[in-house]
Amino acid sequence: MAAKNQNFLDALALAFERGELPLSKNDERYAMLEAQVLPRSDIEWQNMFECEQGFRPLSVELTKKNYQTTHQVDLSSSSPNGVVVLPSRSRVLNEINITRGWNGLREGGFLVFAADNKAGVKSLRKWVSSKAEISGDFSKHHAVVFWVLKKGENWPPHIEQTETGKYQIGPGMFSADGPDAGSVLLASYFDQRIRGKVADFGAGWGYLAGELLEKSDRIDSIDLHEANWSALEAAKQNVKSDIATFHWTDIVTEAPRGPFDWIVMNPPFHTNRAAEPEIGSKFIEAAAKALPQGGRLLMVANRNLPYERTLSGVFRKVAQLADSGGFKVIEAMR
Ligand SMILES: C[S@@+](CC[C@H](N)C(=O)[O-])C[C@H]1O[C@@H](n2cnc3c(N)ncnc32)[C@H](O)[C@@H]1O
Repeated sequence: MAAKNQNFLDALALAFERGELPLSKNDERYAMLEAQVLPRSDIEWQNMFECEQGFRPLSVELTKKNYQTTHQVDLSSSSPNGVVVLPSRSRVLNEINITRGWNGLREGGFLVFAADNKAGVKSLRKWVSSKAEISGDFSKHHAVVFWVLKKGENWPPHIEQTETGKYQIGPGMFSADGPDAGSVLLASYFDQRIRGKVADFGAGWGYLAGELLEKSDRIDSIDLHEANWSALEAAKQNVKSDIATFHWTDIVTEAPRGPFDWIVMNPPFHTNRAAEPEIGSKFIEAAAKALPQGGRLLMVANRNLPYERTLSGVFRKVAQLADSGGFKVIEAMR
């Protein structure tokens, strides 16, 4: 999954290549949070960074390129001389990672943040400069890289886990403020018809699986597949059931084979900022492969997303059950 329109990766690489930022010495490793594969270079990035990446497709890509990667770097035990924080889609998560980076650094170490101009980097820089003096910056390719040197006190840590009503939901997850309206509409179609071996593709923090288990007692097992590590951890808190299992999966490249009797899903339609409905189409194709003849898919999508052609290509019967509030609910049979 190549990064699209992410100029900050080029800008960051250039800042190291031009000596604006120091390379790591000997066996010393810097940490990279929300890590991504860096552009080809004479610098051996793989030897320079210990990477943290909780999004399965990016984590797999890092591993394939021989980066050392984990879903959570323990900065307090490694106390690195350098921490690079790359942007997530969530401002709060960016602040959390910058704070973790600062608090984990050795005295005198540097903390770098890199992001595209349009990704709100100015206001984040302002937030950082209210806590520490900006030591340097570098702009290139419509992106900014800035850094601070660790001096003095740690910053108060952000509270990472939030409670929203009866759910545990963390920053950076889909529908971090509570159940998504589309998912709520889909759940209103859950009943005792849904039975047997069930899967939830792109399960997030577990809303659909939780609703399903409340509305049908004919389910033998429910497999939650989700690419975001933290969301999956939250789902384990939200869906407490002996018949639920949790899988850190990239549905696009590692889809489970099943066979399942039913699959429910509210598929993703972007990885970055722009809409990429092909991801949703790939979820539909993966669901079709995991369902035997007669198996059913029940899904919701924004009403303007063009999934009909994909659906009718891989399912025998396709029916729209609802068109409401900007969402459509679709049931399809193999
Ligand atoms: C629209 S959200 C739905 C979440 C949850 N089912 C709900 O209804 O609240 C789509 C979910 O798919 C996950 N996702 C994105 N890309 C994925 C992939 N390649 N494989 C598995 N899950 C993915 C996202 O992290 C997100 O949690």
